[in-house]
Amino acid sequence: MAHQWSDRGFSTRCVHAGTFEDTLAGGVNTPIFASSAFQVPGPLGTVVYPRYQNIPGQKAVAEKIAALENGEAGMVVASGMAAISSVFLALCQAGDHVVLQRDLYGGTLALARKELPRRGIEVSWVDSENPEDFAAAVRPHTRLIYVETPSNPLLKILDLEALAREARSRGVFTVVDNTFATPINQNPLDLGIDIVVHSGTKYLNGHSDLCCGAVVARSDLLQAVGSAVSLYGPSLSPYDCFLLERGLKTLALRMARHNENAMAVATFLAKNPRVERVFYPGLADHPGHAVAARQMRGFGGMLSFEPRGDTETAHSVMRRLKLFKPAVSLGGVESLACFPVETSHASVPPAEREKMGIRETLIRLSVGIEDVEDLITDLDDALQAVGEPKP
Ligand SMILES: Cc1ncc(COP(=O)(O)O)c(C=O)c1O
Repeated sequence: MAHQWSDRGFSTRCVHAGTFEDTLAGGVNTPIFASSAFQVPGPLGTVVYPRYQNIPGQKAVAEKIAALENGEAGMVVASGMAAISSVFLALCQAGDHVVLQRDLYGGTLALARKELPRRGIEVSWVDSENPEDFAAAVRPHTRLIYVETPSNPLLKILDLEALAREARSRGVFTVVDNTFATPINQNPLDLGIDIVVHSGTKYLNGHSDLCCGAVVARSDLLQAVGSAVSLYGPSLSPYDCFLLERGLKTLALRMARHNENAMAVATFLAKNPRVERVFYPGLADHPGHAVAARQMRGFGGMLSFEPRGDTETAHSVMRRLKLFKPAVSLGGVESLACFPVETSHASVPPAEREKMGIRETLIRLSVGIEDVEDLITDLDDALQAVGEPKP
């Protein structure tokens, strides 16, 4: 069980938790179990089938993620959106009401704006980082509160312990997308949150070569999510389980470097006269810094900033970047840059984006594990596009 790992360090859990013992050949890695047909009755003592989330590769990597999140049980699925939509499908039905933070990944926003109402689920949005504002949005038929912290793309921080307390006292489930923080930096379940979801496509895998997702929760809640996954079918293939498990072995090491590099990059940008605003929870003047310092062990590898000047200037800065590749997605070993208005939040109507505070000039960086001096030089060169800063 995942909780047996709680007295071991995160690096140890990354390497060892969940590994399926190869008693046939003595290999140290979980073998790739490439079967979709398993004998009945078989040695595992149950009906085994990939869509039921119980082939050994799925169970091994799910247990590793659960161990890292200090959760009772975990599950891996075919994408982050599969994890998120399965939670809504499992816990909500027509007539229910859900409360969502407004600053969320664009795909989650689209799901809540288009799909949930189509299924008769009512949605309220909260434009604040104050847990009491989430509590105030709760109604008698509210089923769950859904948030991201740090959020995508403005790195807003929510006090998870206070949010969980408010929600519990009202009998409402809480769900946190922990993709940006990763379990190395933050464990929402320890703060009283009910369910954690991940886009494993990002830091968990860490090498930008795989799409997957994960859910971690109490066993009874996870069973409900598992039923939805079995019926709707977004299962993860044994080959992808192998890749994800391999990536996870270095998660703690990678996150230490991501944290360090992003802090240095944010500090450089914050001092740079060619930069208008920087969003990084590790900076002392970030509005969520005190809460982040309390509930996170590191501030993560994601940050956003606005160069001074207009949209054309911001595009010139982007074009000059050499090491930071202009790309969607995040959380890999390589540094990436994107305009959220063109990528993660392209599906959000402009008026709503404006309300969220996402400007056309906002550049989001996924700071990789390269030598940080090289990353800073790359940004410094690109920012020359802004011209001479006004005194
Ligand atoms: C914070 C966050 N959550 C969820 C997702 C969705 O994950 P996936 O693309 O693996 O479905 C993303 C994707 O960018 C994300 O950034």
